[in-house]
Amino acid sequence: MIKKEIVVNGIPRELYVNAKDSLAKVLRNQLCLLGLKLGCESGQCGACSVIMDGKVVRACITRMNRVKDGANIVTIEGIGSAEHLHPLQLAFMVHGAAQCGFCTSGFIVSARALLEENDSPTRQDVRDWFQKHHNVCRCTGYKPLVDAVMDAAKVLRGEMSREDLTYKIPEDGRVWGTSIPRPSALPKVTGTWNFGADVGLSLPDGTLHLALVQAKVSHARILSIDTSRAESMEGVFKVLTHKDVKGRNRINGLAFPSNLGDGFDRPILCDEKVFQFGDAIAIVCADNEEQAKAAAAAVEVELEQLPEYMSAPAAMAEDAIEIHPGTPNVYFTQKIVKGEDTGPVFEKAHAVVEDDFYVGRQPHMPIEPDVGFAYTNDEGKIVIHSKSIAIYAHHFMIAEGLGLEPENLLLVQNKTGATFGYKFSPTNEGLLGVAAMATGRPVFLKYSYYQQMTYTGKRSPFFINLRMAADKEGKILGMESDWSVDHGPYSEFGDLLTTRGAQFIGAGYAIPNIRGEGRTVCTNHAWGSAFRAFGAPQSEFASEVLVDELAEKLGMDPLEFRFRNCYRKGDTTPTGQEPEIYSLPEMIDILRPKYQAAKKKAAAASTAEVKRGVGVALGVYGSGLDGPDTSEAWIELTGEGKVLLGDSWEDHGQGADIGALGTAHEALRPLGIAYENIERIACEMGVTPNSGPAGGSRSQLMTGNAIRVACESLIKAMTKEDGSFRTFEEMKNEGLPLRYDGKWVAPCTACDENGQGNPFCCYMYGLFLAEVAVETATGKTRVEKMTLVADVGKINNKLVVDGQLYGGLAQGIGLALSEDYEDIKKHTTMKAGGIPEIRDVPDDMELIYFETPRPDGPFGASGTGELPLSCPHAAIINAIYNACGVRITALPALPEKVLKGLHG
Ligand code: FES
Ligand code: FES
Repeated sequence: MIKKEIVVNGIPRELYVNAKDSLAKVLRNQLCLLGLKLGCESGQCGACSVIMDGKVVRACITRMNRVKDGANIVTIEGIGSAEHLHPLQLAFMVHGAAQCGFCTSGFIVSARALLEENDSPTRQDVRDWFQKHHNVCRCTGYKPLVDAVMDAAKVLRGEMSREDLTYKIPEDGRVWGTSIPRPSALPKVTGTWNFGADVGLSLPDGTLHLALVQAKVSHARILSIDTSRAESMEGVFKVLTHKDVKGRNRINGLAFPSNLGDGFDRPILCDEKVFQFGDAIAIVCADNEEQAKAAAAAVEVELEQLPEYMSAPAAMAEDAIEIHPGTPNVYFTQKIVKGEDTGPVFEKAHAVVEDDFYVGRQPHMPIEPDVGFAYTNDEGKIVIHSKSIAIYAHHFMIAEGLGLEPENLLLVQNKTGATFGYKFSPTNEGLLGVAAMATGRPVFLKYSYYQQMTYTGKRSPFFINLRMAADKEGKILGMESDWSVDHGPYSEFGDLLTTRGAQFIGAGYAIPNIRGEGRTVCTNHAWGSAFRAFGAPQSEFASEVLVDELAEKLGMDPLEFRFRNCYRKGDTTPTGQEPEIYSLPEMIDILRPKYQAAKKKAAAASTAEVKRGVGVALGVYGSGLDGPDTSEAWIELTGEGKVLLGDSWEDHGQGADIGALGTAHEALRPLGIAYENIERIACEMGVTPNSGPAGGSRSQLMTGNAIRVACESLIKAMTKEDGSFRTFEEMKNEGLPLRYDGKWVAPCTACDENGQGNPFCCYMYGLFLAEVAVETATGKTRVEKMTLVADVGKINNKLVVDGQLYGGLAQGIGLALSEDYEDIKKHTTMKAGGIPEIRDVPDDMELIYFETPRPDGPFGASGTGELPLSCPHAAIINAIYNACGVRITALPALPEKVLKGLHG
């Protein structure tokens, strides 16, 4: 213990601290400055940035014995408050620079130090500063952050007033279609948006801290688990194993009827076998985190190692044993049969191309690691708070495994520092439930970033063989596809994902004849979970690169080849569905001049050392879960001109708050309810209804429609015979209900065994244009510009839609060039996982909207979030080929792969 006298946000503090504790821990745990966030805890992300004596430091790697007495420290709390916002905070709000908000404090603190040093930075100065200070954001694509700093600098220099910077609602009061900042922006920029780890610090005395005992091998039989030594250690309350699980001890993977497994294959705590590296074998419950971790290391597990099948081909080998005994490693197949038999079609075709493709295990890498807590409430129900983006689905998936009657379990979503889909699967929920039930105490579990990487799901790799045939005019005649989905050891959503191959390989093109088959394969690599655009980045990568190969074989320009073949009236999707709109030809017309200009520019700027090139790709994704997806919401009149909206549209940073409020406000326009008079309560089972998961770009469509229906019911009830509206008092006096439920069912049909059907009523369409530079000496690719022409229907909130598109493009750059979780020993940090830093993402990103109203969308809206990651990576890969003639078909396109292509 040492004494430190420091000044924090202008207040002198006398502190007694452990010399080895980090400054971050002291600021958060001892001074309750929770605006400082902890992401990587290893100096890689900058979420914990503070200013110490004028310099930006990462508080997680600054030990207290290195903090000088008298040090002057500024955290986000010292920069401004809701009443007195610093221009940076205001600018971050109005530029949509705080999406999930987990990195926001770190960026604002860092930018404040920059502006103190240089009040007139260029955009490049700002980018260099964030790069130098390790500020990493996974949501925004960085551009909005730079926009915000530039405007804040203008305000500080007196060139722009705060008034000019502040967003104003248009005079007609309408917020739909505007750029009004999301309501959560204010607490995010002031550091008062408390995420799970922040709330965890305020749990009552007696809360137990959990640490996991995890497998260090990928496939083994468990012979024994000895917890005796751990149980005798200081502070340990209990060590839990599978024997403490009251229920079936399996997550319900919601298997399709045609799945050869029953879906109950993921243990909450491993009992007979370990199926993947990182699997949870035991939980130590102790008074504090350090004690829990120390005891976890003392649990002894005896294993008999089994063969590890680390890829789909390995698990499909003839001599491979069944990973889940009784269920074949290939446990689900999906065919696609459209039009005529492709054999004769290919025989008669003028041009045929074929290639193999692989899109790897993209890790989600939110800056906030997984976190949650659980307790028994006053009614004896187990309540689990987590980052779940599917609270109702997760409730169903874990209740039986825990041994709880459904009515005795409630799930609540914490404020969430992004998920990008990994939280479509339950992660810690089962573990928290087991611990709360077995101990009878509140329990808290925060993953380290290592655990985030090794024990959450990843994008499932697809191994695809694809053939396409065309006539000499360049019309695609047919396609033959074969895809194997490496879904890791747990089946949840693996069958659903495999159907995406049928739906999206070749999407966007009128392909009259298709034959193909895909399969889901159980392996011992990381379990597969949803990731933004679920299945499209794998499926469309194959078809979008092969389309370029086909165009080249025919001597056609890649964009014009797409123009010739994209959906037009009368065409159908690979599933035989008529698209709801046909905007692709006009979108290509919009992109064409930009594409041509980019080609000219690239040709002029190419040198022997740096080759430049241009690539295009077409991206399509469906909004919703396949078939008759449903969602619910309610609206309640709470006073004159005031309403309360209830829904479970989970927010992982994408902007559920403004999505829901913007839709409700638009729907309630006839009543003239002011935007600020709509309150919202969200994502709390027992209070808010089942809106379905926040994934698959379904929420704006599905929950947006449920909100619309609820609002229309309220309006109807309030409407008098003469067309005027009842007041709140009149409603009450007439005994009319004040709350109205809204439910909406998508008018869709799930696909059949041949992959044919109308799975989505609204799609999103995009055209990606990538401009790249490839260094011939190193093979390194730099993306210099990304352009996206997007049709996501009518836009509810421009700011959040922009943010989704920029952020998705940045993740596409990562997917194309750097991101991977193949090496379970190496890819265990953000940096090693290839997260794009600001230097990796161009400042030059152009978004062009083509807003075609969707007949089934609420006020014409479709979804958004999946589109920008549907296929940007194919545009980049096509641009690399255009630049230097190297065709990469297995991602990521690491420099060594490009170099090999260049020089053999
Ligand atoms: S740099 Fe400190 S939490 Fe990531
Ligand atoms: S807003 Fe930057 S990580 Fe989410």
